[in-house]
Amino acid sequence: MTTSSTDRPLAVVTGASSGIGYELAAQFAEHGYDLVIAAEDDGITAAAEQLRRDGGPLVQPVRADLATAEGVEELAAAVAATGRPVDALALNAGRGAGGSFVGGTDLRDELTVIDLNVRSTVHLAKLLLPGMVRRRQGRVLFTSSIAATMPGAYQAVYNASKSFVQSFAEGVRNELKDSGVTVTSLMPGPTDTEFFDRADMEDTRVGQGPKDDPRKVAEDAFEALMKGEHKVAAGSLVNKIQVAAGKIIPDRLKAEQHRKMAEPGSGD
Ligand SMILES: NC(=O)c1ccc[n+]([C@@H]2O[C@H](COP(=O)([O-])OP(=O)(O)OC[C@H]3O[C@@H](n4cnc5c(N)ncnc54)[C@H](OP(=O)(O)O)[C@@H]3O)[C@@H](O)[C@H]2O)c1
Repeated sequence: MTTSSTDRPLAVVTGASSGIGYELAAQFAEHGYDLVIAAEDDGITAAAEQLRRDGGPLVQPVRADLATAEGVEELAAAVAATGRPVDALALNAGRGAGGSFVGGTDLRDELTVIDLNVRSTVHLAKLLLPGMVRRRQGRVLFTSSIAATMPGAYQAVYNASKSFVQSFAEGVRNELKDSGVTVTSLMPGPTDTEFFDRADMEDTRVGQGPKDDPRKVAEDAFEALMKGEHKVAAGSLVNKIQVAAGKIIPDRLKAEQHRKMAEPGSGD
């Protein structure tokens, strides 16, 4: 099924086949939005079927590798082909790469982290925000992370990528403050998704520790997005406290704390 003109607003969600992105898409569906959802693999088709069952919206799945410029352009073309304006945009697709930067991680994985988390976020924003600003209407959510607030020992490239997303979101938010388009950054803490498995971090303390429910994270995110809030430390109270504490703890100490949580084997 493809999207066609309905009275419902349209939301675009990347990384919507699983985890936080799937739950964000479910929030939009439950609140009356039609959807264009994107991910790299075929799971996006099953996610679209599930979302249609849950809320009855029109859902168009787009299978595209957003770590490539071609994949980003494919998604933007699919959005344009709906002929509908984008009312909400959740740039959420992202991945990590855990391990020791020297000798432990693969450069290709780390460059893919940058291509997906950083490059595709900027590229998609560049393609989709102008239409929203022209209409003077829309809500944009960037999935950042609590990782944006701390140097990521044993996940150095990922944390740096999320610092980029956080800073980028805040800069664009300020530029668009009188435009009618709101920008919100979502800062989850450890959340129970496929993230840690994919980042090869299952043997770490953070990988084995307590995690937030992605549905709760998405509910908090949706509420903040609709209110046009600046940022949301979604999920548990622990995450909210950590984001607040991050403002006063020196970076050197935060890197040490991160090391304890993310060092390979630290969970054993
Ligand atoms: N889980 C956490 O603890 C946590 C905490 C803070 C922030 N975050 C952020 O939350 C976001 C969502 O992650 P998650 O935790 O929900 O993990 P997840 O379950 O692994 O979901 C990642 C999503 O991104 C998609 N994706 C990955 N590579 C892609 C590519 N090259 N092109 C297009 N789509 C791609 C995946 O689709 P495929 O399956 O098709 O690859 C999947 O839909 C990420 O930005 C992550 O950094 C997560």
